Amino acid sequence: MNYTEPYVPTPEDIIPRMLALASVMPEEMVFDLGSGDGRILITAAKDFHARAVGVEARMRLVRECRRKVKEMGLSHQITIWCRNFKKVNLRKADVLALFLSSYALNLMAPCP
Ligand SMILES: C[S@@+](CC[C@H](N)C(=O)[O-])C[C@H]1O[C@@H](n2cnc3c(N)ncnc32)[C@H](O)[C@@H]1O
Repeated sequence: MNYTEPYVPTPEDIIPRMLALASVMPEEMVFDLGSGDGRILITAAKDFHARAVGVEARMRLVRECRRKVKEMGLSHQITIWCRNFKKVNLRKADVLALFLSSYALNLMAPCP
């Protein structure tokens, strides 16, 4: 698979502020497109009691994320797909977390 984006994790202290800004509510569905090591998913599930789906192309990061989610007992709240986020159906998402380049964001913008 082609990686269109580098892996740059969001600093841990920023994540609760991002999710609070998005007013994430319990049971809401948060998608992180390019979820890296899953840190946004984990905070959404643990601190905001949301459900979360991570979509990540790099298998190494998917494995790391799945290991952490299992160790923290969050498997009932978090799902991780090893997939290209450009091919994912977002109908079930209430909140989207995106830490991507403007190039990738433009690719996902609706056509005019
Ligand atoms: C800037 S990092 C953000 C990681 C995480 N969301 C965070 O904020 O900590 C972007 C992530 O997108 C992943 N990625 C790049 N292209 C992708 C694609 N087409 N499909 C799925 N994941 C992709 C990279 O492997 C990387 O982990």
